[in-house]
Amino acid sequence: MKKPVIIDCDPGIDDAVALFIAFAADNLDIRAITTVAGNVGIEKTTNNALKLVEYIGKSVRVARGASRPIMKEPVTAEEVHGSSGLGNMVIPEAKGSTYYKNAYDTIYEEAINYKGELQIIALGPLTNIALTLMKYPDIRKKISNITFMGGSIGLGNCTPSAEFNIYADPEAAKVVFGSGIDITMVGLDATHKALAFEEDIREILSLNNGPSEFTGKCMLSYLEFYRRHGFKGAALHDPSAVAAVIDESLLKTQYLYVDVETKGEFTSGKTVVDIYRVTGKKPNVHVAVDIDRDRFINLVKELLKKYGK
Ligand code: RIB
Ligand code: CA
Repeated sequence: MKKPVIIDCDPGIDDAVALFIAFAADNLDIRAITTVAGNVGIEKTTNNALKLVEYIGKSVRVARGASRPIMKEPVTAEEVHGSSGLGNMVIPEAKGSTYYKNAYDTIYEEAINYKGELQIIALGPLTNIALTLMKYPDIRKKISNITFMGGSIGLGNCTPSAEFNIYADPEAAKVVFGSGIDITMVGLDATHKALAFEEDIREILSLNNGPSEFTGKCMLSYLEFYRRHGFKGAALHDPSAVAAVIDESLLKTQYLYVDVETKGEFTSGKTVVDIYRVTGKKPNVHVAVDIDRDRFINLVKELLKKYGK
């Protein structure tokens, strides 16, 4: 039985790789792609999503979402993803256009259609998810799970405290964490172990198809950056969240109370994870504390291989 999902994203190089593996998975029924401002502005993330869906050869709706966070001033990650959002990768311009509904009306439309079965995979700032919850409070009962890439129990990657997706819109994250929906957090504690080593990247490049070449070239350029920061490979952040929905057994999670700092001068965007259960507050998030790297990277290779057939 396929899982009906909506993927909310801010392509973004690793978002692109996440879309490649999502569309190759046999057990995901991707109902729509929704876009959000994040790595780059909304025009670029939306255009990149349209291009990527056509590049993969799919005809799935792309619905444009929020152009800015709920409250704070926008930030981008152009220093990582380039001004285009897809690094130096050039893929054909999109022929199609976006769906006539915006992201949150599209999410709601599908949630009604799937009567509580719809899952959301969020790969960027959580702005669209929060806006959907604020416009349609009844949706809480119509979403079976939100799996998002973001946050960390430990340190950040955007500031010393905060991971980019949460830092970009902490208020949105706070709304989502307080929604009562079943949530899985795939944060840096897992994604910094979801590493593509050089030999993995060479093997991906040898698959010789468009998505594998895109993935391999981008990961090769990321490799130096991560090696300089002491990692043995390139971290596949967003693909980890998609892989966790494809195969839940890849993650080790703990059900914990998580909130978000929204006011700290140095800590805004920090996911505050009550790992020692000192607050006595009810857990609200399944927090990924580990990932099976070998099985994860093999799944990525298997799914990318499918584009060569
Ligand atoms: O911290 C990593 C996250 O921020 C990923 O989703 C990446 O695409 C950026 O959005
Ligand atoms: Ca992303």
